[in-house]
Amino acid sequence: MTVDEEKYAAAAFAAGLVEDGMRVGLGTGSTVAPLIPALAARGLSLRCVATSDATAHAAVAAGLVVESFDQLPELDIAIDGADQIAPGPWLIKGGGRAHTREKLVAAAAGRFVVIASHEKVVPRLSAPVPLELLAFGLTSTLRRLRYAVPREGPQSPDGGIIADWTGEFDDPQALALLLEADPGVVGHGLFPPSYVTDVVVATGQHIEHTQHDRDAR
Ligand code: 5RP
Repeated sequence: MTVDEEKYAAAAFAAGLVEDGMRVGLGTGSTVAPLIPALAARGLSLRCVATSDATAHAAVAAGLVVESFDQLPELDIAIDGADQIAPGPWLIKGGGRAHTREKLVAAAAGRFVVIASHEKVVPRLSAPVPLELLAFGLTSTLRRLRYAVPREGPQSPDGGIIADWTGEFDDPQALALLLEADPGVVGHGLFPPSYVTDVVVATGQHIEHTQHDRDAR
């Protein structure tokens, strides 16, 4: 099975977790891409929030109802990919520049389901960690965050500068706190275990679905 087939399999499994009448957050990226037609094919009555224009367009084209986040501020479930999944589960997200929106949508969801092909599972997180930085004072912010490197390409849809933390780190919680303490950091791609309720990983034909209790953390 190829990595793309694994992404499809994980996405199809996650589509099966969605129930009629749910408010659904849709992530961004190549693992979410096959989720959208799989969800539409179920023919359920759903209301969706998208984390990027690309996802919104694909969802509408597939026949899903997409509303603004302010119209749907509470979600039953959100489904999204990840760049790295480490024990915890801790995640790194933001390869697709959407991590700030994705974190907001995950935080609004009763259940946050992460879908991935097998190579996303790692023993420990490592750089790069995507960042979104405020454009105002960017040079000053980059001087403070010695290991932040602006990424080539467009700004975030909310006008933020996309960069990557390239330094080494052992403790993701300590790095998250360091980044959150800087006034120039709008968001970062470290997602702690408190966000994640489900991880669905496809390894060849095998799907591993683990569930995590947010309240236990
Ligand atoms: C976008 C993300 C994606 O979920 C992450 O980059 C994984 O992408 P893909 O499913 O294409 O491998 O965080 O900001």
